[in-house]
Amino acid sequence: MADKRRFDLFAEFVRREFPDAHRVFDIAGGMGKLNLALTDRGLAVTTFDRRWKRADVRYAERLFTLEEPCACDLVVGMHPDGATRIIVEYAARHDLPFAIVPCCSDNGMPYKPWVRHLAELATQHGFDLGDTTLPMQGRARVLHGRRRR
Ligand SMILES: C[S@@+](CC[C@H](N)C(=O)[O-])C[C@H]1O[C@@H](n2cnc3c(N)ncnc32)[C@H](O)[C@@H]1O
Repeated sequence: MADKRRFDLFAEFVRREFPDAHRVFDIAGGMGKLNLALTDRGLAVTTFDRRWKRADVRYAERLFTLEEPCACDLVVGMHPDGATRIIVEYAARHDLPFAIVPCCSDNGMPYKPWVRHLAELATQHGFDLGDTTLPMQGRARVLHGRRRR
């Protein structure tokens, strides 16, 4: 069972780490709870996922792909599973900062190698990488990056 505090903890982290961000894409946001937590902190958030049962938030009911037009200045994902790698690649394509809390991989890789793989991918794409752990149970590591200038 994932920790119910994860949305507030991650939203707080995002607000602190990216104070200049205003428009956020929340990828694989499920029912929109991270959207609510970020919106409470003054951000304009669009969630991408396919849940019909969800909070009343700005919601793009579709899978997020690299072809999505860019209308954000930060891209984030809490336990985004199959969308995790896409978030890093999308951020690279549009020169955006990103923050992800990885959980399951998209290729059967166990957790630790998966996180290592994502960190290498981000570094190859020219990101300066941060690695933070949220004070919660379960998959709590945050990889976050900004493009090297
Ligand atoms: C483990 S759930 C996490 C949901 C939510 N972030 C949370 O923490 O409760 C993974 C979610 O990823 C979504 N997902 C996977 N690939 C996606 C994609 N390409 N675009 C949007 N959502 C995706 C699934 O539909 C599912 O809701």
